Amino acid sequence: MTVNIAFLADPHLCAIPSRRNCLELLERNVPSQLDTLRSGRRDPRSPGDRWSWKPGSFDKRPLLAAADLLADIASEIDLLVLLGDLSTTGRADDLEVAQRIFLDDSVLKFATASQEPRFGGKGLKFHVIPGNHDRYQDDIGTPGGTLFDSYFKSVYTPRTGVSTVSVGKDGVSATIVSADFCHLPGATLNLIKRFGWGSVREAVLAELEHQTLEAKLLYPSAPVFWALHFSPSENVSSRLQLEDRDLVIDAAIRHEVRHIFCGHTHLRTREIGTFPHIYSAGSVSACDSRNKHFLHICSISKSGDDHALEISDLIFDEPSGEFVLNPLSDIA
Ligand SMILES: [Fe+2]
Repeated sequence: MTVNIAFLADPHLCAIPSRRNCLELLERNVPSQLDTLRSGRRDPRSPGDRWSWKPGSFDKRPLLAAADLLADIASEIDLLVLLGDLSTTGRADDLEVAQRIFLDDSVLKFATASQEPRFGGKGLKFHVIPGNHDRYQDDIGTPGGTLFDSYFKSVYTPRTGVSTVSVGKDGVSATIVSADFCHLPGATLNLIKRFGWGSVREAVLAELEHQTLEAKLLYPSAPVFWALHFSPSENVSSRLQLEDRDLVIDAAIRHEVRHIFCGHTHLRTREIGTFPHIYSAGSVSACDSRNKHFLHICSISKSGDDHALEISDLIFDEPSGEFVLNPLSDIA
């Protein structure tokens, strides 16, 4: 038998869809595009886009496709893990959109609402962690927002920033322990750290280790995975670092946690040379991830006393408007 866990990362929901951050232009042909830099100006080649100095938001098509796909296979999915940055900021107007799209299970009132992505009401079990964007108190990345905790309180009940969920059926089980390494209110940060860095806090790491030990005592035969928004890999862009990341790696080795699932980078990568293996998820719908929107399904099976993981990557196919299997799928 198999336990299936779906991972979605960095949807970046927002009151303003299709808002693209103008810093993206720095990676493109800037001189010919300077006229798009004014806030709210539309790009003639992508008329639905709005360019702004504010953080980029989300594209609706991949999110709708992800919601539709998960609705179709909901009976096969034992857990849906949201790896952070559910919203573009931690302000109420953005969090309301994220809450509605992920948790609202009410019947949609109008036929046109079928074009609205909805993950609620499908019978999916959620495990949620916040990302740095969920903690922004404003559009300039002031850290320490706490509204996320109340908007997602039905599925997010951490203890010192850490929460645990276990899933199992027919003798196969797994536990996920997740931790919030976002900056606290009042942290003094330069611009780079404010927008892209996390920090391993001593109390959160201690709780992560504590809940890992608890899970191993409670479910000794179930493998424990960690879910973090920030990747503890050393191969992450300097803009997106987790400060003191080596403390996480050392703790994972100490507790024999072999697999760590992350978001944040918006790039699909797998580092499976030595344990712990680190998987960074691609963003499901962030505007800056056009042509590389992902969702991931981890299938856990058991043979004797050993567990095996098979991770399938699905990538959004723009022409068909559907997620399709990415050929790089492999066994970890
Ligand atoms: Fe993100």
